[in-house]
This record gives sequence, structure tokens and C-alpha cells, in this order.
Amino acid sequence: MKPKDPILVKDLFDSVSTRYDFLNDLLSLGMHRLWKKQLLKWLQPSKGEKWLDLCCGTGDLSLHLARLVYPGGSTIGVDFSGSQIFLAKKRAHVEPSLSISWLVRDALNTSLPSESFDGVVMAYGLRNLANAEDGLKEIYRLLKSGSKAGILDFNHAKEGSKTSIFQRIYLRNVVVPIASIMGLGDEYAYIEESIKCFPYGSLQETIATKVGFNQAKYKLLAGGQMGALILTK
Ligand SMILES: C[S@@+](CC[C@H](N)C(=O)[O-])C[C@H]1O[C@@H](n2cnc3c(N)ncnc32)[C@H](O)[C@@H]1O
Repeated sequence: MKPKDPILVKDLFDSVSTRYDFLNDLLSLGMHRLWKKQLLKWLQPSKGEKWLDLCCGTGDLSLHLARLVYPGGSTIGVDFSGSQIFLAKKRAHVEPSLSISWLVRDALNTSLPSESFDGVVMAYGLRNLANAEDGLKEIYRLLKSGSKAGILDFNHAKEGSKTSIFQRIYLRNVVVPIASIMGLGDEYAYIEESIKCFPYGSLQETIATKVGFNQAKYKLLAGGQMGALILTK
């Protein structure tokens, strides 16, 4: 699959939706939960605030955020895959006291009001967007002045580095074979291709500064396998 083609990306996430959470847990040995928690620790959402989770998938981060901003706060989860949002809504049903709404929309063009959020998160979404800079511009537009955003994703490690070699071996020899057993080999082979096209952490910082953010700091996680871009408007 050609990375960043929005129609193919949407079809991919529609097709994997029912197996997505299970595979995520299996393939990361549950570690993605820790990385998401760490992201929120860096961002420090507070009670009463309004947060946005872009490319929310089945709503992992949206649910965490909604718990952290409760009471008085609210969270919106946005994803362009109707199947992922359907599952997110189902998960949220068991916690009716939380204030979460779900929107099937493009993260590049949310049509949400400018400067209306105390914080924005995006996990494993930026790498999939047709244009990462446009994604950062939309996040910038949506944030209130002085507020924070956090973007978690695979780290594009320097080609030939130990981190990059380990990443490739893991993706080719663990992720794709396991996903293949569930009939999703091609879909997960896409991860390696998408990482190759993803800006390095230092370039993400540069793009974010160009877009207008006051501060942009790229932090490594999981021995450099993952990275988080922490932004302040
Ligand atoms: C790898 S999943 C991550 C889901 C979730 N954030 C998580 O960490 O579990 C990427 C999600 O981004 C969504 N996505 C990709 N491009 C998008 C776009 N342009 N607009 C909205 N959602 C998008 C996909 O539908 C998919 O649900």
C-alpha cells in the first residue's frame, strides 16, 4: 500500500478495526498503554479542561483524557474511520459519567472552532496523514494560546543505527508474521513503509516551529523505538 493515500489509509483502518486493539496489545506486549500514559504525564491535563484526541481510533487516549479532566472537563475523539469510531463509542458506553463526544472527520480539516482546546493529543496518527505539516497546522489552529499538544508515534531512527535495525527486524519478523496469522500481513507491512516516509524527530521539531509553536521538543521512548513530540503554542 502507498503510504499516506487517505482513501487507502481509511480503508485499512476500517478493515482492521475489530482486531486492532487485540493486535496492538499483542504486538507491543501491552507497552503502548505505558507510552500513552507517559505522553499524558508529560502533558498534565487538568480537571475541567477541554481536550481533543485526533486520529483517536478506538478511543484509548480519549478515555484516559476524559477520566483526567473529570469532573467538569470534556474530550472529543476524532477519526475518519467510521468503524473505529463505532468501537470507541461502544467502549465509552461503560463509563457514562465521562464527557466524551466522537466525530467522524478528517484530522486535517476538523471544522472545529479555532483556539477552543486546552490540549490536543495524537497517537500513531501523524505518520498516516497525507501531510504531517498540515496536521501540525490544524493542531496549532485548534489550541488555545499557551496550551500543549503531544504526538506519539514510531520514531524514524537514523538509517543503519542499531535502533533502526532492531525496529526493522521486529517489524519484519514479529509484527508482520503475527498479523499474517490474522490475515492482516499486508496491512501491517505498511508500518515499515510509513516509518520510512515519516520525518525524523529533529525535523518534526523544525516543522512545528515553522508552523508557529513556541516550543517543540522531541522525546524518545522505548529505547528510541517510539517518540513523542511535545508542543507548546
Ligand atoms: C494507528 S491508528 C491509532 C489509533 C489510536 N490513536 C491509538 O493509538 O490506538 C491510526 C488512526 O488514525 C486514523 N487516521 C489516519 N488518517 C486520518 C485522518 N486524516 N483523519 C482522521 N483520522 C485518521 C485511522 O483511521 C486510525 O484509526
